[in-house]
Amino acid sequence: METIPCLILFSSLQILAFSSASPEHTLGTGSFLSVEEYEKPFLISPSNTFSFGFYETGDNAFSLSIWFTNTVEKTVVWAANSESPVNGHGSKLSFTQEGSLVLSDEKGFVVWDSKTMLGQDSRVALLDTGNLVITDSKGSVVWQSFDSPTDTLLPLQLLTKDKRLVSGYYSLYYDTDNVLRLIYNGPEISSPYWPNPSESIFDFGRTNYNSSRIGVLDNTGHFTSSDGLNIIASDSGLGINRRLTIDQDGNLKLYSLNKVEKSWIVTWEAMPQLCDIHGLCGTNSICEYSPDPRCSCLPGYEMADQENWIKGCQPMFRTNYSQVAEQVMFVEMRQVKFYGFVMGFNTSISLEDCEKLCSEKHSCLAFSYGIGEGSCYTEIQLFSGKKTPSTTMIHSTYVKLPKTANISDVKQYDLICKPNSVYEMHQDDKRWFYYYTSIAIFGGLELFFITTACLFLRSKQNIPKSVIDGYELMTEHFKKFSYRELKAATGNFREELGRGGSGVVYRGVLDKKRVVAVKRLANATEAEEEFQAEISIIGRINHVNLVRTWGFCSEGKDKLLVYDYVENESLDKHLFESIGEKRLLRWSQRFTIALGTARGLAYLHHECLEWVVHCDVKPENILLTQDFEVKIADFGLAKLSKRDFSCLQLSHMRGTVGYMAPEWALNLPINTKVDVFSYGIVLLEIVTGARISSQTSAEGEKLDLAQIVEALKQVVACGDVTRIVDAKLHGQFNHLQAMEMVKISLSCIGERTKRPTMDEITKALMACGDEDKYADCTE
Ligand SMILES: *[C@@H]1O[C@H](CO)[C@@H](O)[C@H](O)[C@H]1NC(C)=O
Ligand SMILES: *[C@@H]1O[C@H](CO)[C@@H](O)[C@H](O)[C@H]1NC(C)=O
Ligand SMILES: *[C@@H]1O[C@H](CO)[C@@H](O)[C@H](O)[C@H]1NC(C)=O
Ligand SMILES: *[C@@H]1O[C@H](CO)[C@@H](O)[C@H](O)[C@H]1NC(C)=O
Ligand SMILES: *[C@@H]1O[C@H](CO)[C@@H](O)[C@H](O)[C@H]1NC(C)=O
Ligand SMILES: *[C@@H]1O[C@H](CO)[C@@H](O)[C@H](O)[C@H]1NC(C)=O
Repeated sequence: METIPCLILFSSLQILAFSSASPEHTLGTGSFLSVEEYEKPFLISPSNTFSFGFYETGDNAFSLSIWFTNTVEKTVVWAANSESPVNGHGSKLSFTQEGSLVLSDEKGFVVWDSKTMLGQDSRVALLDTGNLVITDSKGSVVWQSFDSPTDTLLPLQLLTKDKRLVSGYYSLYYDTDNVLRLIYNGPEISSPYWPNPSESIFDFGRTNYNSSRIGVLDNTGHFTSSDGLNIIASDSGLGINRRLTIDQDGNLKLYSLNKVEKSWIVTWEAMPQLCDIHGLCGTNSICEYSPDPRCSCLPGYEMADQENWIKGCQPMFRTNYSQVAEQVMFVEMRQVKFYGFVMGFNTSISLEDCEKLCSEKHSCLAFSYGIGEGSCYTEIQLFSGKKTPSTTMIHSTYVKLPKTANISDVKQYDLICKPNSVYEMHQDDKRWFYYYTSIAIFGGLELFFITTACLFLRSKQNIPKSVIDGYELMTEHFKKFSYRELKAATGNFREELGRGGSGVVYRGVLDKKRVVAVKRLANATEAEEEFQAEISIIGRINHVNLVRTWGFCSEGKDKLLVYDYVENESLDKHLFESIGEKRLLRWSQRFTIALGTARGLAYLHHECLEWVVHCDVKPENILLTQDFEVKIADFGLAKLSKRDFSCLQLSHMRGTVGYMAPEWALNLPINTKVDVFSYGIVLLEIVTGARISSQTSAEGEKLDLAQIVEALKQVVACGDVTRIVDAKLHGQFNHLQAMEMVKISLSCIGERTKRPTMDEITKALMACGDEDKYADCTE
């Protein structure tokens, strides 16, 4: 009974003691701030430009943030935990005795942690640049908020290759081809929209050959980037507070602070035309100016989520209706274009023929037709539709609907979601509906015109023929070959390069010069349309660490894929069959291969338009170029097999014993984590130079997974990897990198839910590979 008042007294005294002090620029260990006192910052910068502390993001929800002190509305420039805000009661920020900045929630769980552990003499400070830094006892900066930007870049903060500004589905980062881009990364589609993807980056004064990937905004309002981008604030000059922010609508803006009115002025913006921002209205909708941008669903479609345009629109009709001529109609939408991806392209054909092309394909959702040139595009995804105000071009999109659909109910909204019916329905216009009268028999599309959803060039007449790195490459036609062509190219399938679960690969030569690998698929689906839909996914995949697919052939049972030929054999040959010095991979090559493989898989898992699970990651599918760059082969094929098959049922065909995650056998859902598991095994093989599945104990017994995990844990505990690293390297390897790789593979082959993502793995490896920055990771 007596101790309780005493405790209360003690804790209120402590708060009192803390509250009486004014915010500091720098604090030592043991400092803390309770969320209840959020009105007082934890730190302010010396000139009071920035504050750091709890910021109220919503009702009773707080994030740990840095904001401009003197603006009318708090402008947050950095947040530690924006995705997981903490409760307004009981949460606490402390700079612990160990020297870590820790945010804990009301239950005492750690929500965010700087993971610095620098000991008693470390300090945390907020600088006048807006950078929150943690310094060790010697005063050197060990952690800084500038290294993990959120949606804002401040002057002097470097934007480098592994960093991105993110706001919702929108991000700004250096793409794989060294170009700084704005990219929409939605749940279904990933799509760059700035610089305008339908033009060459060189037209914008950018380049793609400087791989330093670095950008910085200086104190005068001048942003310079290694790809040649130059941004100059309209009020350039010293003495102004600025920020470069990616806004929630996906626009990138440079702001200057008006010190008198304490408000922000836009001094530069990337996207003056908001409708050019991809995904703003989601799929199956269009964006138009009237004069402010507004979204509306296509006729027959309704908003998928009334609160949120980015989710787009969904059909109000059953999508599995029988598409015979009598049941289909088309609704014309004038001057409307989509940025989706196209299944076919024809010129100089009549509107009726174009309709026919669309009606015959179940997956065709709409077609667009240009009067005059007679251009016809059949579309299987309607993304980022836009109504063009210009009247010079006569171009319409015709949406396919079942005749029974109720289109009197067209919904249209402002971007801020105010219902507003301005949809022009020309009831008297006879061309409004197009009914089918017959179905003509139509062969395969000669030009299987694929763009990534990202890149849509249909308005461009001259599609670049040259192969430039990165996204430009994807504009190349993904070609449909005839069987005869491929038979000739491979010399009647003479030279076999390899064979695997999905089929046999032959060497071929196209146009007498380009060497290709032609794979004849075993057991592929025979349904033409399904095949084309699936293959279109593969056609859209393009990454420097994935084998490029040039085209396909589909004639009845003959299904073939045409790939880039990768010169220098697969990883297994180099790891397990090296003879003396021949084929022996040096450590640095192994590390690069591990990283390249991780990057390729990360792209498949996280950046593709659809999640692609490889399902068969193994050294045989990791091909090497002459420069020992990784090209992963055989991806996307799990989906190519008969549709009813889940990845799981494909296990006999797809996975390879020794690399298959336990869940294959356990009847658990198959997701990207199976690839992470297999990657863990491959990583271990890269380190040890031996097949993990044939590892034996001292007594000559085969080791099972649990025993291998045990052995690895011991290696990690002892801190010495020497005894497991490939002896053929004669000790020529980087201990820290090897240790990191062992640790990563241990986490990959562990329990499914705890496995890291390929993105995380890529980052962890990169942290170990960047020699100048992480000098302590190399020797
Ligand atoms: C690449 O960009 C960096 C940073 O902008 C610059 O310092 C460097 O000179 C550039 N390199 C080349 C080869 O242009
Ligand atoms: C279409 O789907 C509905 C249920 O969503 C089902 O009842 C109907 O049988 C399906 N029709 C066809 C032709 O598959
Ligand atoms: C569309 O174009 C392809 C060649 O690109 C041609 O074979 C096909 O007949 C065309 N379709 C129509 C309806 O003109
Ligand atoms: C079509 O939609 C409108 C508006 O929602 C409604 O009034 C009308 O009854 C619907 N017609 C049919 C046939 O469902
Ligand atoms: C293809 O299917 C047949 C029978 O369905 C099966 O016997 C054969 O093994 C399969 N081939 C491959 C490579 O999976
Ligand atoms: C593959 O790499 C080796 C080096 O290990 C090199 O000598 C050889 O020429 C390469 N082979 C091809 C086909 O490029």
